[in-house]
Amino acid sequence: MRRTLVLLLAAGLLAAAPAGAASAQAPGCEVASGVLSWGFKESFRAYIDGSIANGEWTVADGATYDTPTFAFPAEKGRVDPRDPNGSVSFAGSVRFTGHGGILDTTVANPVLVVRPDGTGILLLDVSGPTMEGDEVTVTEAEFLDVDLTGQNLTPVDGVITIDAAPTTLTEDGAVAFPNYEAGSEFDPLTVTLDVGDCDLTGQPIGTDTVADGGIPPYVFYIGAGAVGLGLIAGALIWRRRR
Ligand code: HEM
Repeated sequence: MRRTLVLLLAAGLLAAAPAGAASAQAPGCEVASGVLSWGFKESFRAYIDGSIANGEWTVADGATYDTPTFAFPAEKGRVDPRDPNGSVSFAGSVRFTGHGGILDTTVANPVLVVRPDGTGILLLDVSGPTMEGDEVTVTEAEFLDVDLTGQNLTPVDGVITIDAAPTTLTEDGAVAFPNYEAGSEFDPLTVTLDVGDCDLTGQPIGTDTVADGGIPPYVFYIGAGAVGLGLIAGALIWRRRR
């Protein structure tokens, strides 16, 4: 008897699960692929491979370098272009070395966040000694403010393009990389995000809102809830009768 009740309850929960999972999905477009192209900071690159630091940089974990920009492939993310907001994470790291190994800074795993107010921010992992010799290790630090003014985040042929958005170092960025003051200009960001055939006319993927003529998600909720309650009630009545 107890086993039957457990099975019935499990069946009710399973019936409710798909609707809950679908509606937990944030609205917007899933990023299928993409690239963040960014030179970090032109003057820093010149300093590193010039006669002062006598250094170099090496890319890893998916990042590539083609003068004058590093490219980081998109890993995952969602962007809602109708009311621009979302975030996309990119893979890859760049290790800058110089001064015979005293300078050894790695920047990695950029995440581009588009805030609901339309402004952008780039998060970055930064690690290595500062010029003063202090060791810094930060993860997903709010590194750069990204000026998205004038950028059109509507996909064209399935691709959202952010073209050379100007960037400046944030307060947190200046803590992570203290040789520059907050507000210092860094290199602009160019980003392409492939969102496939995500419908931008009002239907976010994930089916949490409804296109004309569709079935609203709450119908699934109510249906699944009713089925679950029915099963429980049935099981209880059956148990009493026995
Ligand atoms: C032996 C140790 C070091 C020496 C002698 C040294 C020397 C210098 C010098 C002379 C400059 C001025 C370059 C110019 O104006 O063109 C400079 C700039 C700079 N150094 Fe160092 N440095 C050392 C270590 C470090 C370390 C560990 C870091 C950490 C990341 C660092 C980061 C920087 C940065 C960000 C700049 C500004 C580059 C720019 O013009 O954009 N340095 N350093």
